[in-house]
Amino acid sequence: MANFHNLNIKKIVRETADSVVISFEIPTELLTKYEYSAGQYISLMLDIDGVETIRDYSICSHIDEDLSVGVKKLKNGLMSSFLNSSIKVGDSIKVSEPRGRFTIQGNLNCIIAIAAGSGITPIMSMLKQVLLNTDKNFYLVYSNKSEKTTMFLSQIKELKNQFQSRFFVKFVFTSKDVASHHFGRITETNIFDMLKFPENKFKLLQSSIYICGPEKMIDNISLSLEKGGLLKENISYELFSSSKKDNLVSSESGDVLVTFTVDDFTSKVKSSKKKTILDTALDNDIDAPYSCNGGVCGSCIGKLTKGEVKMLNNTVLTESEIEDGLILACQALAVSDELDIDFDDV
Ligand code: FES
Repeated sequence: MANFHNLNIKKIVRETADSVVISFEIPTELLTKYEYSAGQYISLMLDIDGVETIRDYSICSHIDEDLSVGVKKLKNGLMSSFLNSSIKVGDSIKVSEPRGRFTIQGNLNCIIAIAAGSGITPIMSMLKQVLLNTDKNFYLVYSNKSEKTTMFLSQIKELKNQFQSRFFVKFVFTSKDVASHHFGRITETNIFDMLKFPENKFKLLQSSIYICGPEKMIDNISLSLEKGGLLKENISYELFSSSKKDNLVSSESGDVLVTFTVDDFTSKVKSSKKKTILDTALDNDIDAPYSCNGGVCGSCIGKLTKGEVKMLNNTVLTESEIEDGLILACQALAVSDELDIDFDDV
């Protein structure tokens, strides 16, 4: 599990009818633990009606602002509904230290971000980081139902005015045709048109692309961009949830002997090959790190130092990281009869 600390809520700002931005006060002695890179996330842990609930939320603040997350109320969303209606300034919440690999990578001079709905939250942090701390250009394609449901609309417009020569934004609305904005959805077929800006100064093939939104949009757009010649390593994406855990079915049978190393402590357990490595650890009270349990966040990365696993879904690790032995424990199933997995050496 991630390291959690109690933080007080410093500010709550209503962004739209169904979203809020929550800012936290960080005690001086914890400041270094809450240093983060733009694009990372924190987990919030709350007791809601007697149920311990943990959810991940992307940080939307600039590193010099109060640590803040944007929370959009989801249909049937236990935590997001609670955070939108039942918290107040001064409340104490268990907040994890920041984590995540969806951060600005490489040295390319142009950043392109494609966001839908609350997928804008990590992009907001990146946008402010790039505009305020670099001389790079930033192009944003941002899709929502309408202006009324668009998180950070006024902040984005202010940044657009402030950085007219470096920040270019294209709003896309799916339920209402708004003059001078795009109407419809971002799809794999129109993505290259969406990325044509009148002020186009970038060479698409030499840009870093960051995509955040629903899984289907990310899958389709990233595939389309790769087919269009963009290098896979220049495309980063962040899913907020995955539908893929349900597909985890092992064709292997029998048992596996797994040796775990966590926090310098080694334990050996026997388990079924039908269970994921993370489930094996948790069922045996081994404190393996995890968060989403869905192959999305990268919290459960471990190093396989002996044996073989298969990962059915992986949206986090690169091919070279897999070659180096890294695995997502929540997505890994044993193939060999013995495994050694080290969560410290990652
Ligand atoms: S716990 Fe999030 S990727 Fe495994």
